[in-house]
Amino acid sequence: MIRDALLILVSGAIACGGSAKDTKSPTSPPNAPVHGPDAHHLHTHAPHRHGDQPLGHRFENAEEWAKRFDGPSRDVWQKPADIVALMEIAPGMTVADIGAGTGYFLPYLSAATGDTGLVLGLDIEVDMVRYMEMRANREKLANVKARTVAVADPELSLGSVDRVLIVDTWHHIPERVAYAKKIAKGLRPGGAVFIVDFTMETERGPHKDHRLSSESIVAELTEAGLTAEIIGEELPDQFIVRGRLP
Ligand SMILES: C[S@@+](CC[C@H](N)C(=O)[O-])C[C@H]1O[C@@H](n2cnc3c(N)ncnc32)[C@H](O)[C@@H]1O
Repeated sequence: MIRDALLILVSGAIACGGSAKDTKSPTSPPNAPVHGPDAHHLHTHAPHRHGDQPLGHRFENAEEWAKRFDGPSRDVWQKPADIVALMEIAPGMTVADIGAGTGYFLPYLSAATGDTGLVLGLDIEVDMVRYMEMRANREKLANVKARTVAVADPELSLGSVDRVLIVDTWHHIPERVAYAKKIAKGLRPGGAVFIVDFTMETERGPHKDHRLSSESIVAELTEAGLTAEIIGEELPDQFIVRGRLP
């Protein structure tokens, strides 16, 4: 039984974040600091669940996650400014960052939308929302509002949002076609959703069993009624899928 439990822990640690070459003990607590190329997405992992539960582990204790998500080395491969440029955000727009975590993208989105715009930092974790509020105050991001949302619903008002950004989060969302339909209802005419996630090939990111191909995400958005395509070649480890209202 102990052997089975260890096997579950090992496969769990590899499943969502680490790579097979991770040397960190899989029994390390989720909050233990991690360094190295896979640090952004290495953590212990509960079995995947379905329905109104997120797929994978929870993201609690924002301060600890911030050490991984907000480290300066991330900018090199994440290229946040390039992603936000691709989103073609005009001043005054409303942008939702779904699964915004510690708010890594919020300063970029805040600058792009400007004084007359609005940025919604949405997450299922209360502690991430607390951290985003603290960050918005600290960095004087006056047009940012953070709020908790349900696992299965981004809770966007009908036709209220011009752009949606979802980074390293789509693979945590259950019932993705139904979820994409809710995003589509929240978009204004001309609105678009941008999903950024790890390619199958890269060594960075969750275990390959838990990744989604860019093609499958295009298919999910298309089934939800959006016009979807893979765009941009800017990122070394990730793809970008855009879904637009037809
Ligand atoms: C890997 S982190 C990415 C954080 C952020 N997007 C970034 O790039 O730094 C995934 C985040 O998505 C959140 N999340 C997971 N499932 C979610 C869901 N169904 N709806 C909204 N947020 C979710 C988690 O709580 C976590 O903060």
